[in-house]
Amino acid sequence: MSAHAAMPHHIAIVMDGNGRWATKRFLPRVAGHKQGVESLRRCVKACVARGVGVLTVFAFSSENWNRPADEVSGLMELMVLALGREVPRLCEDGVRLHFIGERGGLSDKIAAGIAQAEAATAHNTRLVFNVCFNYGGRWDIAQAAARLAQQGQPINELSLDRAMALAHVPDPDLFIRTGGEQRLSNFLLWQSAYSELFFSDKMWPEFDEAALDEAIAAFQARERRFGKTSAQVASPDTRKLRTA
Ligand code: IPE
Ligand code: IPE
Ligand code: MG
Repeated sequence: MSAHAAMPHHIAIVMDGNGRWATKRFLPRVAGHKQGVESLRRCVKACVARGVGVLTVFAFSSENWNRPADEVSGLMELMVLALGREVPRLCEDGVRLHFIGERGGLSDKIAAGIAQAEAATAHNTRLVFNVCFNYGGRWDIAQAAARLAQQGQPINELSLDRAMALAHVPDPDLFIRTGGEQRLSNFLLWQSAYSELFFSDKMWPEFDEAALDEAIAAFQARERRFGKTSAQVASPDTRKLRTA
């Protein structure tokens, strides 16, 4: 078995495949996104039950604005609905919500809903739940660098890390993408440097607890080396002995 039987502290997910899930059932793509919200609710509960500390999901990318107008407006409407409806449930489960992404491009209604939901869940401590919305990994790196430059601060790994949108949580341990594609699509480019990647062929609406457990089990069977050798990882004082 693994050197790593612990639960991943931070799980990040690219929730992909809603559209294909719907099309296969002769439904409009927005019906797939609706089902995707149900799947996300189940996933949040499962993470709470498993003692995962942080869940970060990709809900809408900087590039998703390029989709057909009716799909974009359907996604925005769904977000307004979810923001209005999910807060009591999140509070019951001890979930603290953070929205990550460029707020500038969002409607006043969504911006207000986000601010309200964040404030209403701010006291919760069981799970930190980051929803990346109007987010892109390149946007995040660029906005962090621009802010530091504007403040006359030095730009280095530590300062950039602290200026980025996920500075309040450690880097993801496990990075999952559903929907069968094996790419990052501009999600967490900086923070996933040493994440374990897991690609599932399941479409997001059908990614259930068993599928999550499969991803966690795969993670637990990996050996994370962070640049070291396998021997060093197996016995942490190898390096000390050698340099003594
Ligand atoms: C992911 O599902 C959700 C969003 C990008 C908002 P998709 O809508 O990308 O579904 P597919 O990839 O077309 O099946
Ligand atoms: C990534 O999925 C974005 C989200 C899941 C929100 P996409 O469906 O937009 O990614 P590509 O276009 O297949 O790379
Ligand atoms: Mg997709």
